[in-house]
Amino acid sequence: MAKVIVFGSMNMDLSIEAERMPAAGETIAGRGFLTNPGGKGANQAVACARLGAKTHMLAAVGADTFGDELVADLEAAGVDCSRVVRTERETTGVAVILRCAGDNRIVLHAGANHALGASEAEAALREVAAPGDVLVCQGECDFDATLAAMHVAHELGLHVVYNPAPARALPGAAWADIDLVCLNETESEAMCGVLPADEASARAACERLRALGARSVALTLGGAGSVGVDERGSSAVVPAVALGKVLDTTAAGDTYIGALAAGVVRGLSLEESMRWGTVAAGITVTRLGAQRAIPTAAEVAAAMEGVAH
Ligand code: RIB
Repeated sequence: MAKVIVFGSMNMDLSIEAERMPAAGETIAGRGFLTNPGGKGANQAVACARLGAKTHMLAAVGADTFGDELVADLEAAGVDCSRVVRTERETTGVAVILRCAGDNRIVLHAGANHALGASEAEAALREVAAPGDVLVCQGECDFDATLAAMHVAHELGLHVVYNPAPARALPGAAWADIDLVCLNETESEAMCGVLPADEASARAACERLRALGARSVALTLGGAGSVGVDERGSSAVVPAVALGKVLDTTAAGDTYIGALAAGVVRGLSLEESMRWGTVAAGITVTRLGAQRAIPTAAEVAAAMEGVAH
């Protein structure tokens, strides 16, 4: 059976909630501090594994206690970490997260996430990949390494899923390597110049991204759900679901992307994967933290029973 390979970031998240954003020079009291495994790449890998896909992680962490914890937790989630590199040259990536008014703001220390260059990413991928596998990349690793991974994956016959977060303009030729680009509103503006404000502008953004070269697009719109266009040009609009009180939106997007990648392995259509991912992310936001908030396939299936589509 095909598998998912994630070339991506692994961060220790230091997360705290505040009533409001502090002003410059101001100190305010926070609450609900937690240290927990995150990183967009590792979160997406956990989502893929919990949703039933065989998943490999290609990444680097420092030779430190955060690195030890991140690898142990990822393995416990069922992700193959045999190609996660330990480097003495950098410390493990860290994300400082401020949760405020139902949303979050994140400051990253990339650290070891930039340790793998293009040749290392390509070599690791060639060792583990087989035609029909899915490669998932984001924007938290070395940019050239990410481009190289997507290019070699495309050449090897993998299905390439790209989440441009943080967003950065791609060289024109790189779009041809992407089977599915999954992004939010601000990333859409950065990648194609269209900031979706409603369904019509979201569809326009999808078409613009397809004109750039991505074969399919899934565009997330926060509380307004998501809009997608598949490789045949068929569009889908999936409303968000409310499955309880929103506690923490960290890793909601990563859960959704993990469902899209696992959906490819399962042979789901883009629209089916979007619905699956919407419910999975709807569960994630009702829980605190990143990887620890991501549900299993059984939890998603149970929640889907109660969601009218
Ligand atoms: O998408 C959420 C993730 O972004 C967090 O877990 C944090 O590590 C940052 O990478």
